[in-house]
Order: sequence, then C-alpha cells, then structure tokens
Amino acid sequence: MARQDLASLIRNIPDFPIPGIQFKDITTLIGNGPAFSEVIDRLHERYRDQQIDAVVGIESRGFIFSAPLAYRLGVGLVPIRKPGKLPAATYQIEYQLEYGTNKLEIHRDAFQPGARVLVIDDLLATGGTIAAACDLIGMAGGQVAELAFVIELTFLNGRERLRNHNIFSLIQF
Ligand code: PRP
Ligand code: MG
Repeated sequence: MARQDLASLIRNIPDFPIPGIQFKDITTLIGNGPAFSEVIDRLHERYRDQQIDAVVGIESRGFIFSAPLAYRLGVGLVPIRKPGKLPAATYQIEYQLEYGTNKLEIHRDAFQPGARVLVIDDLLATGGTIAAACDLIGMAGGQVAELAFVIELTFLNGRERLRNHNIFSLIQF
C-alpha cells in the first residue's frame, strides 16, 4: 500500500472539537486491516535494528500504535497517561495543547537507567504533548532515541520546539 493511499484513508472533520480545527480522524485508517498493518510494518522496519529498549505510548490515541509496535519489536510498552490513572509513584507535568491545557504522568520506575526509548503518538501538531512526554521520560531516566508519529501537521511547526530530537512521521499534511 502506497504512502498516498494511507494518507487518503485519514478523514478530515471540519470544526471538531471546536470551530476552526480541522480534525484528522484516524479511525478510517485503523479500521482498514491492510492499512493498519502497513503502518505498524513500516514503523517496525524502521526501528527493528535500532536497539530500542522500550516503546513509550501516549494516552489515548498513541496507545493504538505503540502497543502493536512494541509487540512486533519484542520490547516493553511504557504508558504515559492522563492524571490519576497510573497506580504507583509518578512524575507529572502540565502542558499546553492545541486547544486547552493538559497533564500527563509516567511511573517513576518505568525504565532501566539509560534505556533507549522510542516514543510514538498518532499526531504531531504543536508538539506540546510530545515535548511534555520527553520531559517526563527524562525525569524517569530514559533516553529518547526518536519521536515517531503517524501524522505530522507540518504547518504547525511542531518540529521547531523539538529541535534536539530525531523525528519521523509516516504521513504529512
Ligand atoms: C492529540 C493527539 C496528540 C496531540 C497532538 O491528543 O493524539 O497526542 O493531541 O497535539 P500537540 O502536538 O499540539 O500536542 P489529545 O490530547 O487530543 O487526546 P487523545 O490522544 O486522548 O485523543
Ligand atoms: Mg493524544
């Protein structure tokens, strides 16, 4: 399946969740078996020989892609979650979202010291979420090998604020 075919499976929803936002709906992509497999296969192909120790997934939509990728790579999955969900001791961070603010948490003991981690989310928009995730990973003693996204909204310049990281995206709008 060509890259263009994957892009064409992402549905644009105008004015969701608030007026002026063009929402990129991945349900039409993940609802297509061959397309979903293709996404995970491509990510696996890129990271299989990069000595990744753990995959970090960001609640909620990041979990959809991080879990099958961790499985394919044969490494553990570390969840970064919204507040009050992780049961053991956590680090917490507050950050700006494209619309509003949010908090995220990670377990303090999520990583072996110096673990090389691959961070996956569905979408790079302003970069606020992933920057917060990187801060949390650093607090927990992990080393970010790369940030991977299924979709990158290039016009929002999320890469600007993430200049000190390697960034990869499958589909750009
Ligand atoms: C969305 C998306 C990314 C983030 C991207 O998550 O899944 O995580 O926004 O935006 P940013 O680059 O501007 O930070 P959201 O918090 O809306 O919730 P969800 O994943 O739980 O649906
Ligand atoms: Mg999200």
